[in-house]
Amino acid sequence: MLKLGVLASGRGSNFQSIIDEIEAGKLKASVRLLITDNPDAYVIDRAKRHSIEYLYLNPCTFTSKDDFYLKIAEELKQRDVDLVILAGFMRIVRKPLIDAFPNRIMNIHPSLLPSFKGLHGQKQVADYGIRISGCTVHFVDAGMDTGPIIIQAALPVSPDDTEDTLSERTLKLEHKIFPYAIRLYSEGRLSVEGRTVRIKGYELREEFIINPPLS
Ligand code: GRF
Repeated sequence: MLKLGVLASGRGSNFQSIIDEIEAGKLKASVRLLITDNPDAYVIDRAKRHSIEYLYLNPCTFTSKDDFYLKIAEELKQRDVDLVILAGFMRIVRKPLIDAFPNRIMNIHPSLLPSFKGLHGQKQVADYGIRISGCTVHFVDAGMDTGPIIIQAALPVSPDDTEDTLSERTLKLEHKIFPYAIRLYSEGRLSVEGRTVRIKGYELREEFIINPPLS
């Protein structure tokens, strides 16, 4: 069974969606460890409620950023983690962790990448006035939101949308596609060629607004 390590800094609704899929038997995985950089994060309560081990690491107590990520990698390796999930982890992951888990770190971003990278994706979307937005699950590389894309889901944007209304609708889609991307990984269906992710058993159809479609 796939062993997950999760990094999160905030309320952890994506973390919850992953736990829910596991508990519903739809995702054959277990969360071995939650690591957070925020001692007040609500995600900690969620971990406690589901008896998941958690660890708070204060980045300020490390001599360098690389040291912080080295420690994270060590903790994850100690628990034999196969795949690392960034579920609202508000930092740019650095080389020591990426090298320890090459193409084995997934992130969710609240826009259709490569548009609107970085912080406050939904605000950037609302301010720009685009018509279609969405969310993206991708593997993590050394850049900010630049790694190979696994799955994207689209939603319409209205001129009346605000950061809040858009965040709420985007989040609902995030909760569907993130556990699904993890499931594809757990079924051994993902392979990475350069910056392209191939998915076994998947054929393109024009009407897909979630690509690949959930099955
Ligand atoms: C989500 O919008 C996600 O796309 C972004 O951070 C937010 C995390 O939300 N990376 P939550 O903590 O999972 O509720």
